[in-house]
Parts: sequence; structure tokens; C-alpha cells
Amino acid sequence: MITVHTIAQLRAAVARARLEGKRIGFVPTMGNLHSGHVALVTTATHHADFIVASIFVNPLQFGPNEDLDKYPRTLPADQDKLLWAGCNLLFAPGVEQMYPDGMAAQTIVSVPRVSEGLCGASRPGHFDGVATVVSKLFNMVQPDVAVFGQKDYQQLAVIRAVVRDLNQPIEIIGEPTVRAANGLALSSRNGYLSEAELAVAPILYQTLVKVAEAIRQGERNYPALLATHSESIRAAGLLPEYLEIRHALDLRPVTAEDRDLVILVAAVLGKTRLIDNLHLDLDASVRD
Ligand code: PAF
Repeated sequence: MITVHTIAQLRAAVARARLEGKRIGFVPTMGNLHSGHVALVTTATHHADFIVASIFVNPLQFGPNEDLDKYPRTLPADQDKLLWAGCNLLFAPGVEQMYPDGMAAQTIVSVPRVSEGLCGASRPGHFDGVATVVSKLFNMVQPDVAVFGQKDYQQLAVIRAVVRDLNQPIEIIGEPTVRAANGLALSSRNGYLSEAELAVAPILYQTLVKVAEAIRQGERNYPALLATHSESIRAAGLLPEYLEIRHALDLRPVTAEDRDLVILVAAVLGKTRLIDNLHLDLDASVRD
């Protein structure tokens, strides 16, 4: 695996792979990699012959009170994991490569509807930052296929919308969430949790499973169901931000007749904001 830091080096390396007839797979990340990211790269190797990963902590998607400065930068350890997972090329640009004229001068990609509500409500501008940086990275790498985690369900929906609306010829694959044995979704943010908080955090996944089970048993009074379970999250010591049921495909609000659902939760535990979701297709079995 080689690591490059400039767009020119990236384009040259990808062009060589293309000349060799290789299909290009892409996994964008912000680094501080865990087994969930390794799974993204592994999946990419099943769909492409030359795998590019990027590590860029994108300031455009962080709000003024968010953790941009304390976001862990762990490049050597990340390089080992990517190499082991089968990555061929790592693109690790600096801010000056990505935003040469500064962020205020950057053209913004903004996706209506799916960016609104859920995480979009408490993180204004976040999905504009994600859609913009992912569009730029797509234009730099020009992959055939890109893999994103389903844990960031709304982000995945935003990226699918970007690719569809901007007619980008890229196949987007959603990778199922990797979980600890106790159900906790793997996340770079779990590193901020104390021992005591780590013991409590699995309540989020347990809540999703309980809500899904109730719906599968026929419960259709969603407001009451969600209010009860939000209260359980609060009683466990977390501050619930949202617990919602949306349509799995486009995140629009659901009616009792909808069958393809996703249950999404966000809550703050101590100083750490956690998210999770569970896909529930009433015409199939549970998956996430
Ligand atoms: O999910 C992430 O790590 C980031 O939001 C992404 C997609 C790499 C864009 O910065």
C-alpha cells in the first residue's frame, strides 16, 4: 500500500491502476480506524481490484462546538489496518489540498429532504459538509464503487441522493454495522466513553431491538411506543436526542401502513453523542 498526500499523486496512481484494467473501489474515512472500517475495506475488495481509502478529518462537517480538534489522528496505526485489510492506496490530504481557498470559498453540495431532521436537526450544516467532501473525493478518485457504513444511516441516504441527483456513475454499497458482543455499534466516538459509560451504552441497540420486536408483534401506535422507549433511555442515564421510525429508503416519515422501516436513535452519554439504527423490513427478517 502506498500513501499519497496530494491530488496529483492520487490521480496518477489511480490512472495507472485503470490502465491495468482494474476496477476502482473507494472507502472514504476520517481515520481512527476500527473493525467497522476494516469491514468496509474488506467489502470493497469483493467488488473491485484496486482499493483506495482516504483519511481526512473534514472540518466542513464539524459544527463550532463539536470535537474537530480532539478528533483522534492516528495515521501510522490506520495505515497498518488498511494494509492488512487489502487497501492498495491511501489518500491522506491536508486541509490545503481539500480547501485551497478556505472553506468559506468552497462550493457547497446541499441535499434537501434527507439531510433534514434526525442528525440534521442538531447538527446544522453537517450533511452539507459530508455531501461536499464526498463529492470532491469522488471527483478526485473517480471510483466504480464506494462503500459506506450503515451505522451512519442518514449519511448513507445523503450520499445515495448525491450520486443519484448528480448522475455520478458510482455504485454505493451500504455495509452492515459492526457491533461489539453486547450490541454496541462500533464507532470512533466509543473511545471517548469511560468504563461506566461503556457498560450503559448498549441500551441504545437494546432499545432498537425492543422497538422492532414490538412493531413485529403488531404495535402501530408509534408515538406512544417511541415515547416509552425514549423514557427508558433517559432512565438509563442518557439524554435522548431522537428516537424515530422512518421509511428505510428515503427517510420520509412513516404511516402505520409502511413496511420497510428504519428505527433511528441518537443520545448523549456524558459528553459523547452516540447514534445507532436498525433496519426493519416487515416483509422480510430483521437486518441492520
Ligand atoms: O463517515 C465518515 O467518516 C465521514 O463522514 C466521511 C464519509 C468520510 C466524510 O468525511
